[in-house]
Amino acid sequence: MAQIDKNRVVIFDTTLRDGEQSPGATMTHDEKLEIAELLDDMGVDIIEAGFPIASEGDFRAVSEIAERSKNAVICGLARAQLPDIDRCWEAVKNAGKPRIHTFIGTSPLHRAIPNLSQDEMAERIEQTVTHARNLCDNVQWSPMDATRTEWDYLCRTVEIAIKAGATTINIPDTVGYTAPVESADLIRRLIETVPGADDVVFATHCHNDLGMATANALAAVEGGARQIECTVNGLGERAGNTALEEVVMALKVRSDIMPYHTGIDTKKIMHISRRVSTVSGFPVQFNKAIVGKNAFAHESGIHQDGMLKNAETFEIMRPEDVGIAGTSLPLGKHSGRAALRAKLKDLGVDVGDNQLKDIFVRFKDLADRKKEVFDDDILALVSAASDEDDILQLVNLKVICGTGPAEATLEMEIDGTEQTAVSEGDGPVDATFKAIRRLHPNKARLQLYQVHAVTEGTDAQATVSVRLEEDGMISTGQSADTDTVVASAKAYINALNRLLVRRGKTGKDVKEISYRDVT
Ligand code: KIV
Ligand code: ZN
Repeated sequence: MAQIDKNRVVIFDTTLRDGEQSPGATMTHDEKLEIAELLDDMGVDIIEAGFPIASEGDFRAVSEIAERSKNAVICGLARAQLPDIDRCWEAVKNAGKPRIHTFIGTSPLHRAIPNLSQDEMAERIEQTVTHARNLCDNVQWSPMDATRTEWDYLCRTVEIAIKAGATTINIPDTVGYTAPVESADLIRRLIETVPGADDVVFATHCHNDLGMATANALAAVEGGARQIECTVNGLGERAGNTALEEVVMALKVRSDIMPYHTGIDTKKIMHISRRVSTVSGFPVQFNKAIVGKNAFAHESGIHQDGMLKNAETFEIMRPEDVGIAGTSLPLGKHSGRAALRAKLKDLGVDVGDNQLKDIFVRFKDLADRKKEVFDDDILALVSAASDEDDILQLVNLKVICGTGPAEATLEMEIDGTEQTAVSEGDGPVDATFKAIRRLHPNKARLQLYQVHAVTEGTDAQATVSVRLEEDGMISTGQSADTDTVVASAKAYINALNRLLVRRGKTGKDVKEISYRDVT
């Protein structure tokens, strides 16, 4: 009989479901497929691919991710309602390993919303988990807001779900309210108290409202949880979720005091972090653990001196462990395709021949403009790949600027037709954005405009993030280029393309909305 590894912690990634719920983090269909493939390749055990009943787009994305899955279990989310569960099963059933995840809010505040008594809710749990289990033999059940649910009622509902056939019980800290000692204690007591608890896997799902999500998840593992729910970069509603890279690296680096392990290939962390940041439009904060720009930077003289003598003086993990090729040499304009492929491999980026061809063209273009192309430039380049299916595409941009008003001449392809506009503005970015609005009139309000240098020097690439709001819909865009104005134009166009996708999702006629209210 196969030996069960009691210290193996399974990683359940919900970037495509809980992460995508962050206002403005909507991803396109192709971006979701790409992120799912990266998650599968890096060894994520379970991918929560979406909420199939939420929209036609979510259903299509979950179905296609299920069909393309390799090793990971593909899970869909469903409320405690039979049509939700049926729709979820339709979407995941073609995965090699499908899972249905159904949930209901069990705390007094959440019970009040559907206005169900404790007994009525208990009956609903029994009925919906049984239904899910009749469709799929891998069923996860979650009592939403578990950490604010009365202890006796939590035990009662968990017991019902187990008896009805749930194979994983997830204990969500939906509002990021718990703390490490309580988180460990809650899981430990549930396992000790609830009949049948030994036959299921307990999971932890923590939000970060008090900045304790990662600590709470690791504490839950001490208490007996063996599934951690998390997202890349901690993406998620409000302050986000437990960050995948943090729990994985914490378990790796501190295996002396936390003897648990995951199946994640940590060298792929940096690349997926960049991709999720780009496609979600959520920049990673500079000092973010593991994946922030400064996570391995050493500024002060004392630190730099120590690092040169022995890197371990100020580093508890090697940059290479998370896919940053520490001391390797930068590429330049004479570097060939083989060197680029080797560099990408070093950085944990697997590309097919066609993709390599495309990245190589963009690499040569960058190397012509920039003396040395560093690892961060290459990751930004891979991340900034524009989607050929986008309705709006930048073709050409010329800007004249100086002490007077700036003038931008912009060529854009809109739905396959090239158009040109000239606009004046208060500086080059303002002139460019006005020209974009002239060609694609819209009433989206610019909520955020941010510029970061990817590497050092005056020829460094700039990464620009833009957030737009229109009719309560939020959309973000990101792009990188050695020219800050070009990066700004691409980021703005990227955000507008996402807005068009979002309008499509809500069923509004894209053209009807985007071409009215011309100012
Ligand atoms: O935070 C939460 O409670 C959730 C549930 C749907 C599991 O995301
Ligand atoms: Zn959540």
